[in-house]
Amino acid sequence: MPAIVLVGAQWGDEGKGKATDLLGSSVDYVVKFNGGNNAGHTVVIEKDGKREKYALHLLPSGILSPNCTPVIGNGVVIDLSVLFEELDGLQARGIDTSKLLVSANAHVIPSYNRTIDKVTERFLGKRRIGTTGRGIGPTYADKMNRVGIRIQDLYDEGILRQKVEAALELKNQILAKVYNTRGSEVDEVVEELLSYAGRLAPMVADTSLELSRALDRGDTVLFEAGQATLLDVDHGTYPYVTSSNAVAAGACTGSGVPPTRIDSVIAILKAYTTRVGEGPFPTELHDDMGEFLRKTGAEFGVTTGRPRRCGWLDTVIGRYATRINGVTDFVITKLDILTGLEKVPVCVAYDVDGVRHDEMPVNQTDFHHAKPIYEELPGWWEDISRCRTFEDLPANAQAYVLRVEELIGARVSAIGVGPGRDEIIERFPLKPAVAG
Ligand code: GDP
Ligand code: IMO
Ligand code: MG
Repeated sequence: MPAIVLVGAQWGDEGKGKATDLLGSSVDYVVKFNGGNNAGHTVVIEKDGKREKYALHLLPSGILSPNCTPVIGNGVVIDLSVLFEELDGLQARGIDTSKLLVSANAHVIPSYNRTIDKVTERFLGKRRIGTTGRGIGPTYADKMNRVGIRIQDLYDEGILRQKVEAALELKNQILAKVYNTRGSEVDEVVEELLSYAGRLAPMVADTSLELSRALDRGDTVLFEAGQATLLDVDHGTYPYVTSSNAVAAGACTGSGVPPTRIDSVIAILKAYTTRVGEGPFPTELHDDMGEFLRKTGAEFGVTTGRPRRCGWLDTVIGRYATRINGVTDFVITKLDILTGLEKVPVCVAYDVDGVRHDEMPVNQTDFHHAKPIYEELPGWWEDISRCRTFEDLPANAQAYVLRVEELIGARVSAIGVGPGRDEIIERFPLKPAVAG
């Protein structure tokens, strides 16, 4: 013990990578349990007096902490070409990646699922989801449909061939007859997958057993979610979601560690809101203020480079995240981006066709109609990037955090005041005390 889950509270890109990196030096394992290379985490590290930026997609952010063992759990979908590209990139920059463990039960993203992701989006036209085009949805669909390919299949060529054949039988027909696109050759797919098997072999493990033993030994394990609460396939703004469970509960199914072993849940909440791709977004700004947040916050996707849609903080979503994830601690990130505003609007409830909603409407149509009800909090002008204690913050910034804390219903334990590793205020310890 302890086991800590770290999740995104909004639509992703809250700064989970930076928060994981912050905890990385004091945890023994960091586990990615959902999603794949649709994620994009930026971590900024000070090295020899210079700022170095790392963009991670598939690897857990804990890989940047020398003493931490990074784990890719069974709930992840793996594009093997991206895995090795990322490992090579880190090794070239002097990062030790030799401890990485990969679950034998994780699914691989075969090349045909990237094709299907892209052609499906084109086919949907105006109804598209705005996916990252990485083959995530089709690979999770295959998993549920029981025609997926797992990491362990790479070590039994006969089984691998059978599975690829079974998957392509239907998919090639759909690609040709519905989408008018060339299908894939079984041999090519099998060969490509087998080409990774040798290099991957030493990393493949029963990661559920490894983590269970680690917790028995008293090691600290951090589970790092990709995506976020409102992109969760069950609890998000379906169908404008990703195809995995990004909420805290996903840490258990996606790693094989049971709920009774989880001690705390940290949610990362950006001081305003962003979203990439399509779907409802009540506090979205289409004016100069939206542009201000995008520019000042550098809100462009790490994975696809798309400009992120921007809007004010929505505490209805924050409260929802608290409830769905069982949040024990919040980290508010990017408070520095709100510096210099006369008033900072915070959404406290919605008006849905004339009716006030204090909680997330259960009906998706209502959420599409939701108009934010704002409370305007007084702003601050001082540069806060050098603040390291809560008391260092200007009075109005403190008041903003305290009001948000009250609205979201869980304590704010840390506050991000800049992208750098040390640009954070640690108000309360994020790691639970070890019992006994
Ligand atoms: P993730 O997907 O949740 O890991 O988040 P991303 O890396 O996609 O996006 C968060 C961005 O905000 C990154 O560029 C971080 O370097 C940056 N960031 C994180 N925390 C802070 C903060 O407190 N202040 C500022 N200015 N930037 C931050
Ligand atoms: P991190 O981990 C923001 C969005 C896509 C699209 C939807 C479905 O960096 O927070 P997918 O390719 O997953 O099928 O796309 O989900 N999306 C993200 N948005 N941050 C992410 O990851 C995302 N991963 C997926 O833009 O709307
Ligand atoms: Mg991101």
